[in-house]
Amino acid sequence: MVQSYESQYQHYLTRAEKALDRAVELYLPDESVVCQAARYSLLGGGKRVRAILVLATCDMLNGNMDAAEHFSAAVEMLHCYSLIHDDLPCMDNDDYRRGRLSCHKKFGETTATLAGDVLLTEAFEAIAQSGAEPKVCADAVKDLAAGGGSRGMIFGQELDIAWEEKTPGRAVLDTIHHYKTGALINAAVQMGASAAQADQESRRILEQYAYALGLVFQIVDDVLDVTATSETLGKPVGSDAENGKVTFATLYGADGAMQLAQQINEANCKRMEQYFDSNAAFLIQLARQLLDRKN
Ligand code: IPE
Ligand code: IPE
Ligand code: MG
Ligand code: MG
Ligand code: MG
Repeated sequence: MVQSYESQYQHYLTRAEKALDRAVELYLPDESVVCQAARYSLLGGGKRVRAILVLATCDMLNGNMDAAEHFSAAVEMLHCYSLIHDDLPCMDNDDYRRGRLSCHKKFGETTATLAGDVLLTEAFEAIAQSGAEPKVCADAVKDLAAGGGSRGMIFGQELDIAWEEKTPGRAVLDTIHHYKTGALINAAVQMGASAAQADQESRRILEQYAYALGLVFQIVDDVLDVTATSETLGKPVGSDAENGKVTFATLYGADGAMQLAQQINEANCKRMEQYFDSNAAFLIQLARQLLDRKN
């Protein structure tokens, strides 16, 4: 039976939330204040885009969905750590996240820093305890470490901060977005591929998809920072300008940036369709929905 996009999306979201609830029970004991802070940030909203990408990719490749469920929790835990640290005064200094006080505003900087640390660490525990065969676990660990680490999100954050109060051009912004956002989105997609033990060619095409999706996702994030309200966004608007960051919205204006995002997105969807045919329908539709998102 062919399911509609909406019902498939709901199905993945439900599985992702269930996996996160389970991970929280197993790896974030309530007696620790640091873990309470981690729970506060992890379970308080969030679109779960990366979790859905793990599940949808694995499903498209007919992989092990039980393993993918655990991996989906792992990538959301690591992503949540990146948000907690991103909001700290020493980074973007933002007081709201996901519609409520950011972790350090609620629990203080020390606890928030440690809450990020515990989410990063326990993400790998969640993979190790997934029950998947050793090769699948090892591949997923590699995917997540690559996306989060020195050639991934952390490097992107380093560049993002280094370019504050400077004037990066298009090429530099592409590079920053590639690492700070694309790398973790690619980790999610590759973890789905690992749960399916996908071949190298499929992984390569999926990598192209993920980095293009990540670039579009961050361009939209940059635009929403100037066009949205903090109520719909759940986080402060104008944060980039306040931190002296040049973004796609600064370079091209909000409309120009969105046009560019649309072009990149359509080329990306076309490539996916060429390679995976109708099996890519969900991932293609997801890319289009994320372009049109309001938060
Ligand atoms: C925010 O990510 C950080 C970026 C890389 C733009 P999301 O927009 O996915 O944040 P949540 O998880 O939905 O809160
Ligand atoms: C995302 O960039 C950075 C991360 C890797 C967490 P932003 O700093 O623009 O993300 P938001 O706008 O605070 O969510
Ligand atoms: Mg930032
Ligand atoms: Mg930020
Ligand atoms: Mg932003």
